[in-house]
Amino acid sequence: ASQILFKNPNEPPMVFSWFPIIGSTVTYGMDPPKFFKENRAKFGDVFTFILLGKKTTVAVGPSGNDFILNGKLKDVNAEEIYTPLTTPVFGRDVVYDCPNAKLMEQKKFMKVALTTDAFRSYVPIISDEVKSYLKRNPAFKGKSGIVDIPKHMAEITIFTASHALQGDEVRSKFDESLASLYHDLDMGFTPINFMLHWAPLPSNRKRDHAQRTVAKIYMDIIKERRAKSAEDTQQDIMKHLMNSKYKDGTPVPDHEVAHMLIALLMAGQHSSSSTSAWIMLRLAQNPEIAEELYQEQIKALGADLPDLTYEDLAKLPLNQAVVKETLRLHAPIHSIMRAVKQPMPVPGTKYVIPTSHTLLAAPVVSASDPTYFPNPEVWDPHRWEAGSPNAPSLTRNSGEEEEQIDYGYGLVSKGSASPYLPFGAGRHRCIGENFANVQLQTIVAEIVRLFKLSNVDGSRDLVGTDYASLFSRPLVPAKIRWERRD
Ligand code: HEM
Repeated sequence: ASQILFKNPNEPPMVFSWFPIIGSTVTYGMDPPKFFKENRAKFGDVFTFILLGKKTTVAVGPSGNDFILNGKLKDVNAEEIYTPLTTPVFGRDVVYDCPNAKLMEQKKFMKVALTTDAFRSYVPIISDEVKSYLKRNPAFKGKSGIVDIPKHMAEITIFTASHALQGDEVRSKFDESLASLYHDLDMGFTPINFMLHWAPLPSNRKRDHAQRTVAKIYMDIIKERRAKSAEDTQQDIMKHLMNSKYKDGTPVPDHEVAHMLIALLMAGQHSSSSTSAWIMLRLAQNPEIAEELYQEQIKALGADLPDLTYEDLAKLPLNQAVVKETLRLHAPIHSIMRAVKQPMPVPGTKYVIPTSHTLLAAPVVSASDPTYFPNPEVWDPHRWEAGSPNAPSLTRNSGEEEEQIDYGYGLVSKGSASPYLPFGAGRHRCIGENFANVQLQTIVAEIVRLFKLSNVDGSRDLVGTDYASLFSRPLVPAKIRWERRD
């Protein structure tokens, strides 16, 4: 009661709720972006709500993004929040099951494997996987059909990512055991696991069994590859991690290689698969844009549409903009959380965030704010072209040198005060951005070559968003119509 009577004036305003522990968990969980926008309208850019019994302070807008994502190591901590969820899925000693300095080194190993040369070899692999999937899958037989698209994009994502990132041998195992094992691992990534990650739920037992089995499959492959390293010329991430050493000279142990591979595939799978499904749904909603994409390829690459290369992707600016614009409105990660380790004054306000709070960044809020994006609710890939009436007014002045910073895994842009951050910012920023772009752009380019897409009823409707998992994605069923080009 004293807390209510003598509310600390330096704490941000609190979202009211009738329920002491549940707080706003349900309203937040049903539609996080809507919850953020409504409360921002009431309280401003910084406010607190109760999430599963925990005071959670949201800071939105470019300065909120910067405050949280560029928070100092002594002030904010990610692993404390994420580890109950991620460690049973990835395995021990990697990502959030180790000190941050070790994660920074691991990110460097992973990032070094994601080079331009690597991408050059990935584009044909991804192209072939997409074409082969669309040829063999019964849902795409004939001249036209109706498909529940997210399921197919999830499969295309895992086949393309596993083949490109982890090599032929791992990919071949996805036709047998690995697909269902990864499905069981995935069950560990539901919000209920934030509270009950330790519980002997059937899904947790399956998750733990799947983790051990997948790790064993990878470790057997690693052992075999080490044994015949002379003949093994394949340059994939597994190979690169196998040959990496920590700064103190310790080679990366096999179980860490295996666990990093699981983490890499899981980190990318949900985000990329959700994004690719949204792209297809947006193209079905806007068939004229899909037609423009097709014409763009004919103009840039020639009417015979030769096999795609990495260099070709740069010649397709609208294809790139479709990915970029879809991530603006459908960023799969809606809430980025940090534990507070020291009282943190919020710049430009009287607020100080105490260590009992969790911080929550939501770049999705600024990404659909009319201050930065005219007609923010309109999906308009052309807005990314110079001179478009919907062109974003980003905060940085053009021509200004972008500040770069190294957290231990290579230089990243310091621009965390940007309204557009689908890949995060700061020391936890995504290392998979370029891979995701290459993967998504290749998938889109291949699909528009083969098919015209439309909504089943010919309307301009769009399905809603499912926020029940930790990553947002289209509500299913999300059916669209495809028609083979002549
Ligand atoms: C981190 C988004 C694809 C690997 C992040 C973060 C975001 C993000 C927002 C920051 C999380 C935080 O600050 O807590 C996305 C999106 C993707 C994507 C939107 C696709 C459209 C990928 C792919 C990979 C990957 C394909 C792997 C190849 C990682 C890793 C981290 C990360 C390793 C670092 C986690 C950390 O340092 O705490 N991603 N990601 N991501 N992502 Fe991605």
